[in-house]
Amino acid sequence: MLAKLPPLGWNSWNTFGEKISDSLIREMADIIVEHGYRDAGYEYLVIDDCWSLRDRDENGLLVPDPEKFPYGMKALADYVHAKGLKFGMYSCAGVMTCAGYPSSYDHEFTDAQTFASWGVDFLKYDFCNFPETGDCRTRYQTMSMALKSTGRDILFSACNWGQKEPWKWMRSVGAHMYRSTGDIMDNYRSFTDIFRSQLDNLCMSAAGSFNDMDMLTVGMGGKGNVGVGKTCTYEEYRMQFALWCLCSVPLMLGADLRSVAPEYEALMKHPGLLRIDQDAECRSPYVIRKGSVFTSNPDAKEGEMPWRQIPDSSYTIFRHLSDGEFALAFINLSEAESTIHCELVDLGLPVSSGFALDVRDAFTGESLGAKRDYFNQHVPGHDMRLYLCRLVRSHA
Ligand code: GLA
Repeated sequence: MLAKLPPLGWNSWNTFGEKISDSLIREMADIIVEHGYRDAGYEYLVIDDCWSLRDRDENGLLVPDPEKFPYGMKALADYVHAKGLKFGMYSCAGVMTCAGYPSSYDHEFTDAQTFASWGVDFLKYDFCNFPETGDCRTRYQTMSMALKSTGRDILFSACNWGQKEPWKWMRSVGAHMYRSTGDIMDNYRSFTDIFRSQLDNLCMSAAGSFNDMDMLTVGMGGKGNVGVGKTCTYEEYRMQFALWCLCSVPLMLGADLRSVAPEYEALMKHPGLLRIDQDAECRSPYVIRKGSVFTSNPDAKEGEMPWRQIPDSSYTIFRHLSDGEFALAFINLSEAESTIHCELVDLGLPVSSGFALDVRDAFTGESLGAKRDYFNQHVPGHDMRLYLCRLVRSHA
């Protein structure tokens, strides 16, 4: 079965855009293995847009750009496979890709055959230049059938940016993951907006077909193709990675793994966080509490309250994991520090239950002991706390 768990990998777009080549992909394959990303679970190495010539050949086939990929795609796929990785490529459901290269509208079966003949294991399928008269669902279904017709296991990564509410139908057309938002940018606002927008849709994301909240920007530091606005701090990148894991969504890394700082490399391979992302039950998060952060407002005019309300910025989120574990997150999306509350009765643990939660910090592994009745956390602005918990008898 493909996509039994959220797929993990690396994609060229966020850092490299059109600046892709055979040597870059080979180098990235080497790094993924040598730096232990493969052993941490990252298996798909995906080339995004801009890999082909601007025109099909005389037989109507897609042609890799010989300057960027002088040995062709089959040779590159062989290299990637020899490293124990899987090889991903990109096309689009419209008449041209987003960057203006030939696309698969009305070429679905031919192109699927081409990808299969090259040894492709993953197809990201975009949505630019889609005909006004076209039916989105039918065209994704068509590519899904085309991929199936090849007889090769090709993971179908459908990317329609959340248009036409894909969480309602992408599973039924055979997509293994479906992009549910517009493009991520390498800044705080972008990834927190994506997170907020998908919380209610994640109940449809599970084994076989996952909501895709887009490729990560963790560790990019403003370098590359999606660096718009102020880049993120360590705590903000840690939040991005932890939120994606909490949501049990695909983790497609986007940074230049050849030069990423060691703290981000450690974050992207963090066993506690990956354990949450890759939990066998793939359950969606349970929002216990969502609210405002209140902060003092020294600029308040006479007669105004001396505080300011920042709505939709404080979350307490719980998630059932397998093997008797749970994840519990306190998320502060505002810029002001705040105390975020959790009454254990809201997790289904009233005082009368006689049970408490044994709590371990998912970032540091540190044990916080058993918590009963309530568990409040003081969280700095733009930061979160994430815990792995187990039920224990309460001794009070
Ligand atoms: C769209 C997609 C991006 C990327 C680019 C390539 O914007 O959403 O993820 O694939 O196209 O042109």
